[in-house]
Amino acid sequence: MNASKYKPFEGAPIVGRQWPSKRITKAPIWCSVDLRDGNQALIDPMGIETKLKFFDLLVKIGFKEIEICFPSASDTEFDFCRRLIEENHIPSDVTIQVLCQAREHLIRRTMEAIKGAPSVIFHIYNSTSPAQRKYTFGKTKDEIVQIAVEGVRCIKECMKSLSEDERKRIRLEYSPESFSMTEIDYAIEICDAVGREWGISPERKIIYNLPSTVECYTPNVYADRIEYFASKVANRESVIISTHCHNDRGTGVASCELGLLAGADRVEGCLFGNGERTGNLDIVTVALNMFSEGVDPELDFSDLPSVADAYQEYTKMDIPPRTPYAGGLAYTALSGGHQDAIAKGLAARASMPADAVWDVPYILIDPHDIGRQYEGIIRINSQSGKGGASFILEHNYGYSIPKAMQPAVGNLIKAESDKAQRELKGEEILSFFEEKWIRNRARFEIVDIASTQLDANSESGSAEHVSCRGVIRVDGENVAFGGRGNGPLDSFVSAVSGVVFPVFNITAFHEHSVGQGSGAGAVAYVQIETGSGEKFWGVGKSSNVGRAGIEAVVSAMNQLG
Ligand code: KIV
Ligand code: ZN
Repeated sequence: MNASKYKPFEGAPIVGRQWPSKRITKAPIWCSVDLRDGNQALIDPMGIETKLKFFDLLVKIGFKEIEICFPSASDTEFDFCRRLIEENHIPSDVTIQVLCQAREHLIRRTMEAIKGAPSVIFHIYNSTSPAQRKYTFGKTKDEIVQIAVEGVRCIKECMKSLSEDERKRIRLEYSPESFSMTEIDYAIEICDAVGREWGISPERKIIYNLPSTVECYTPNVYADRIEYFASKVANRESVIISTHCHNDRGTGVASCELGLLAGADRVEGCLFGNGERTGNLDIVTVALNMFSEGVDPELDFSDLPSVADAYQEYTKMDIPPRTPYAGGLAYTALSGGHQDAIAKGLAARASMPADAVWDVPYILIDPHDIGRQYEGIIRINSQSGKGGASFILEHNYGYSIPKAMQPAVGNLIKAESDKAQRELKGEEILSFFEEKWIRNRARFEIVDIASTQLDANSESGSAEHVSCRGVIRVDGENVAFGGRGNGPLDSFVSAVSGVVFPVFNITAFHEHSVGQGSGAGAVAYVQIETGSGEKFWGVGKSSNVGRAGIEAVVSAMNQLG
């Protein structure tokens, strides 16, 4: 590979840069360019009906500025603009933005398209980089400035025929296209010339949109250029500085964020990073990054899965599983150490107030805040830890496995996943668990059982005031049993321990209720230890609390090979 073929692009001669020690503390002005930049990058651009639905989605999310199209580019684009205006789709607090090259006939056509719009940003651009000046236009720097200035003059000319009120509804945005590759002082010169021609003031602010049309350096260089631009541009108080980052180096989000630190007021971008080549910057990520640091992004992604579904339907683009926030695997941990920490973090939250600061390990934001569930957080494969399977059994199926039993459950599920050589679904984990501990009748099964409360005084001071009798199937044969104890469980143990099974004790017992109403019952977990020191876990489930414990003992007995 011959790297000498390439050279670094120009930064900015900035001294005493401020942006590295800043933080983002408020939402910028957001402008979605999904319907223009995003749309023009689609293999099959959206039709009018789809664009209308997408526009409604953007409004619902909370965008107040939406670049809707390039009206002079095609009839579909023009007609879409007319439909939005004539059918009153634009809420009173939303401004539509239209893109146009700084060329007279295109400007006149765009003016036609926006007639009657309640509020418009007229966005003109021309390319300013050395390569574009040389190859595309064959013009000098001054001639390129002239193109921009004449474009503004033409817009002003067209506006003369409008009423005062109509004129007030049109704002100007200018983009020195290919700003990222343009000499910074020249970019400032051309923006200043445009601002002078438009006649800017604090009441008549202009938007200078500074695109990394092609992202060509690290985000700090973009930030330097934004801070330098902001410090040198004329009449800063009459200027809104806008970022418009593409993602050629995969750092569009970072460039935008550092651009905001450097003083940008506004962000143009697309949902999920759609856009030319490797995309525009992903507005969802920038917004939710702010959210994750406690800053209200002023965009509503509380039902991100619905936004993602609509986006995929409209654009026919996929959202890869590792996409920040929206990806299918964005909140999933498969490795054991992560699962264990997440399960403990979530368990701790159960006893905290709902608005306690989020600090669950490995999960940046609470999935519930963006409409995702906890179910997908932990998924099980052969690398998963001992707590993962128990987390799923608890969160999906209501089995609160005691901590001491979790390694046994984890080992079973891990072995099954290893055998299958794939991830196990929740239902499969449930089935392996129940097969081993609840439905396991390998050697022992209670056929019949009854307990009787004994008269406390009848047996001279004995603590054994419950007796139980019944029949248990042992290796296919029915065997009668009977015993006494201080409770139903104890009397059952004394009936079978050392009789149909080696002598054993109960060394752990846990119980919880499951279900509600008529379907309510109990699940019991026991650990038994035989005289030879072997330990087995068992699980019993029954509508009767006492019976659940006895079934758990039988389940443990069935674990003896
Ligand atoms: O990326 C870009 O430079 C653009 C301009 C038209 C703003 O999309
Ligand atoms: Zn762009």
